[in-house]
Amino acid sequence: MKATLPQAPGAIGVFDSGYGGLTILSEIRQLLPQYDYIYLGDNARAPYGPRSFEIVYEFTLQAVNKLFEMGCHLVILACNTASAKALRTIQMNDLPQIDPNRRVLGVIRPTAECIGELTQSRHVGVMATAGTIKSESYPMEIHKLFPDIQVTGQACPMWVSLVENQEFDSDGADFFIRKDIDILMNKDPQIDTIILGCTHYPLLIPKIKKYTPEGVKVIPQGKYIAHSLKDYLHRHPEMDAKCTRQGTCLFFTSEAEEKFSESASIFLDENIKVKSISIELH
Ligand code: DGL
Repeated sequence: MKATLPQAPGAIGVFDSGYGGLTILSEIRQLLPQYDYIYLGDNARAPYGPRSFEIVYEFTLQAVNKLFEMGCHLVILACNTASAKALRTIQMNDLPQIDPNRRVLGVIRPTAECIGELTQSRHVGVMATAGTIKSESYPMEIHKLFPDIQVTGQACPMWVSLVENQEFDSDGADFFIRKDIDILMNKDPQIDTIILGCTHYPLLIPKIKKYTPEGVKVIPQGKYIAHSLKDYLHRHPEMDAKCTRQGTCLFFTSEAEEKFSESASIFLDENIKVKSISIELH
């Protein structure tokens, strides 16, 4: 028998492949605490980073549909890999059919928008999952806005695992973080700004800063996403009116509830209640 799906009509949906999107959700809730939110993590099928375009698109579309079914009119893909590999197709091909009045936004464009003011050398580095780097989404989005900026990417395939396995304080973390930063800086020593293009990476910031040359800025994206959402709601009063305001937040995962709650505490300073749901069936 099909389980009834929990409903939160008017909540803003925040989707990530797993836990990383919680870093974005925290910033959004700090800036916009009045709205209602639903967080959905596809933990059972994470990580998305190494997966193909087709699979990331398929999984992301299922999650978006699930959030729509729960009552969201607006969904944020708080995952760089999903934003890189699925957002455009969902916006162009799927939304017009599903419901042209609903919206799905990503995290890459708002991050690209902020970069023009942050770099002086006009040389920027992006550290992200292999999937995000391979998609070339960051250079494409940045060049649309700032054609003069040189963008160099570095895939950091171990970093998500370091966070998920709670190894962010270990010597192993030092080894991989130093290695990837060195490779990036060797590719372009003029880089003065590094974008953390993966929602997990803010948890590695102390070590990232330790191995980043002095004077190079390290930019987590959460604050920029939150400000961009605020601006979006201001510019789209028709969407803003559909978003309810009770200050609530519900959490859902495709994994076991205990497993999610345990690890979520690394990303959030609060104890949360989470419900397990199936994403692929709808
Ligand atoms: N949340 C993903 C991102 O921001 C990282 C985790 C994954 O690979 O699924 O790219």
